[in-house]
Amino acid sequence: MRCKTCHAKATVEVRHHNAAYCNDCFQEYFLKRVQHNIRAYRMFSPGDHVLLVVSGGKDSLSLWDALIRLGYRVTALFIDLGIEGYSRRSEDKCREFAARTGAPLQTVSAKEIWGLSIPEIARKTRRIPCAVCGRVKRYLFNKCALEGGFSVVATGHNLDDEVASLLGNLLHWQTGYLARQQPYLPSTHPKLVKKVKPLYTLTERECLAYALIRQISYLPEECPHAEGATSITYKEALNHIEAASPGTKLSFLKGFLKHKELFREYDGDVELRECSRCGQVTTEKVCSVCRLMERAQKRDSRTGANANPSL
Ligand code: AMP
Ligand code: FES
Ligand code: ZN
Repeated sequence: MRCKTCHAKATVEVRHHNAAYCNDCFQEYFLKRVQHNIRAYRMFSPGDHVLLVVSGGKDSLSLWDALIRLGYRVTALFIDLGIEGYSRRSEDKCREFAARTGAPLQTVSAKEIWGLSIPEIARKTRRIPCAVCGRVKRYLFNKCALEGGFSVVATGHNLDDEVASLLGNLLHWQTGYLARQQPYLPSTHPKLVKKVKPLYTLTERECLAYALIRQISYLPEECPHAEGATSITYKEALNHIEAASPGTKLSFLKGFLKHKELFREYDGDVELRECSRCGQVTTEKVCSVCRLMERAQKRDSRTGANANPSL
């Protein structure tokens, strides 16, 4: 196989584009795709200060590297969720990348803010850790961006993540989620920072290839709580389909985005206001995270543990 661009020996095959590249040209291809996505959705421009949320995995670290090389102004944020061993190893990878490149990295910890880790909050409120985790992360992404004066939050969601959630939303006819699923979520309130996914057309495999070529040291393991998650089943099913018919994932997502208007009526007009406790945007008087923490901390004080409601 020869590189599509320079005809040297190819090292990475991109089957859905019917192409292959050598290491150097693959990097060019990857950076071009990221730049194209940013421009196509006007995600941000060189003047913006981007808060990139990083997990220590190959996707967000590859995106961090790509945004630096493309000349964007980026600060990374890692959230320590307090997940046994996994959080420590994830943070180490982010710190390693920051030290190697000199790029700025901020960290916040659930335990320092609320006195409880994500698994503890989940146990005390009898919820699944992943559900608590997703909600807390979204809350902190916005809060940290707002307090730090960032105009946009970027995540490392890739094509595989996006098609798996699209399939899940379709299988369960989550019309509200379908109406809001897109690579660019605009700010609909002065205290809501816009969210973007510059890797939304790049597969997990492409992000892995980029990380390997760039010698980025990332954490390969999955969160221990992700085991058995339905999103993993959807990803496996989509991988089977993609192997038989390369390009299906991309055309599935692109087709959906093209026909998104079909779901517009389900994007109900909700009245947004500020949480009376923390000031973050919510549809209720008190936001779901403040209510969750109140419940967890009440249980905590009943069991005599040290609760620290320092939000
Ligand atoms: P996941 O939900 O784990 O698939 O992660 C999707 C994206 O969310 C990642 O690519 C990161 O951009 C971001 N993310 C996940 N975990 C963290 C974390 N602990 N701190 C900051 N950002 C995170
Ligand atoms: Fe959130 Fe696993 S529970 S990363
Ligand atoms: Zn609140």
